[in-house]
Amino acid sequence: MAKVIKGGTVVTASDIYQANVLIEGEKVISIGENIDSGDAEIIDAKGCYVFPGGVDPHTHLDMPFGGTTTADDFETGTRAAAFGGTTTVVDFCLTRKGEPLKSAIQTWHKKADGKALIDYGFHLMISEINDNVLGELSQVVAEEGITSLKLFMAYKNVFQVDDGTLFQTLTKAKELGALVQVHAENGDVIDYLTKKALAEENTDPIYHALTRPPEAEEEATGRAIAMAALADAPLYVVHVSCAAAANKIKEARDAGYKAWGETCPQYLVLDITALEKPDFEGAKYVWSPPLREKWNQEELWAALRNGSLQTVGSDQCSFNFAGQKELGRNDFTKIPNGGPLIEDRFSILYSEGVHKGRIGLNTFVNVVSTNAAKLFGLFPKKGTIAVGSDADIVIFDPKAERTLSAFTHHMNVDYNPFEGMKVVGEPVTVLSRGEVIVRDKQFLGKKGRGEYLRRATFQQY
Ligand code: URP
Ligand code: ZN
Ligand code: ZN
Repeated sequence: MAKVIKGGTVVTASDIYQANVLIEGEKVISIGENIDSGDAEIIDAKGCYVFPGGVDPHTHLDMPFGGTTTADDFETGTRAAAFGGTTTVVDFCLTRKGEPLKSAIQTWHKKADGKALIDYGFHLMISEINDNVLGELSQVVAEEGITSLKLFMAYKNVFQVDDGTLFQTLTKAKELGALVQVHAENGDVIDYLTKKALAEENTDPIYHALTRPPEAEEEATGRAIAMAALADAPLYVVHVSCAAAANKIKEARDAGYKAWGETCPQYLVLDITALEKPDFEGAKYVWSPPLREKWNQEELWAALRNGSLQTVGSDQCSFNFAGQKELGRNDFTKIPNGGPLIEDRFSILYSEGVHKGRIGLNTFVNVVSTNAAKLFGLFPKKGTIAVGSDADIVIFDPKAERTLSAFTHHMNVDYNPFEGMKVVGEPVTVLSRGEVIVRDKQFLGKKGRGEYLRRATFQQY
C-alpha cells in the first residue's frame, strides 16, 4: 500500500518547503502540496520536519580493535542508528597483510548479512600495497562497489602504513575512481611521545590526549594533502578534531585541491578536560584523535557552516566501560579507542547546530546526510528526498526535549559519553526504503532487512 507523509516541512540540502510526500514501495514517487494520494496510508507530520534519512559515513561495527571487539554489531548498531534517524551506514572493512582482499570483504559481509536493519556499504582498509592488492583492487571497485579506501597514518605496528603505501594507493585510486580516506595523525611522533610518557609512569587517560597533540594531526593532514595533490587524486580526511587540521583542508580547497573533511559530534561538543574525570571515567572519552581544547569547537562549527568540512560521521566504535575500557586502568595505551555515537549523531547535530543557531537547516541536511551520499557514490538513491530516491525519511519533531542517557539509548554499551545532556528535537518516525521501521519509540523492522549497497565511483560535486 502506498504511504503519504502529510503536513510536514520537507528539508533537503537545498530547499525548505511545505509538501506531502507520496511513497510507493521503496521509492518516493511524488512530492507536492496537492498530490493525489488516493487511499494511501497517511503518516502525519504536522509540526515536524521531513528530513532525508541520515547517512553515517564512518562506523566500526563488530570490529576487533585494541585486544577486544566493539560492543555493537551490525544488529544492535544499525537498530540504534535507526532510532537516531540514520538510515544508511558505511562501515570500515578491516584487512590484514597477506590476506586476499576478497577474503577480508567476505568476513565483513558475514558480519552484516542477516543482521543489518538499515542499508549499509563498506569502505576497504588498505594495509599494504603489492601486486596482489593492486590486481584485486579493480574487482573490489567494479564488482563489490567498494569505492572508498581507508589508510591509517597512525596506530604504529597495528594499522599504520608508510607514505609510499599511501602514495601508491592514491595513484591507483585515481585510476579506479575510488576516494582515499585517511586517519591523519603522525603515528611515529605519537609512538615516541607515548613511550616517553609510560617511561615517566604517566599512565592515566589524560596522557592519551597529551601524547597525541594537534600538531601531529595537522602535520599528517598536510602530508596527506600534499601527496593527494601530487597524485592529483581526491582525498577525504576522517574525524578532523582540531582547528589546525581543519585549516589545512580549507587551505587545500582554497588552492583548488580535491580535499574533503569530516568531523564528529564528540569534537564539536566535548573537550580534553573530560579525560581528567576521576575514577578512570576519563577512559570513556578516549578517541583518536583525542578531544581538544574547547576553543577548537567553534572553529569546527564554522568549518561546517562555511563548507570547509563537509560531513559529520559518528566514528561509532563502542566499548563497554566494564571489562573493555577498563583494560587500560594501569596503562592508557591499553584503553580501546572509540565511543558510541551512531544513535545520537543526528540529534546532537540538530540540537547543538540548528537549535543553537550555529548552522542552518540546509547545512544540517548536507552534513548529516547529503554530502556523505554524494562523496561515497550513493546520491541520489540516498541523501535526499526527491522523486525516484529511496524513501529513507526521518520525521523529526523540532520541539521535543529529552536527555541523552545510557538508560534510554539503544546502543549495546554501558555508558553514554553525553550522559545527562539535554537535546532539543527528536526523530519520531523513521522510514527505510518506504518501510516504517521506527514509530512510537518502537523498532518495527525485521533483523536482516538492511541491504548491501554497491556504490558508484567517485564524482566531484
Ligand atoms: O578512537 C577512534 N577513532 N576509534 C575508532 C578507530 C579510528 O581510528 O577511527
Ligand atoms: Zn581513525
Ligand atoms: Zn573510525
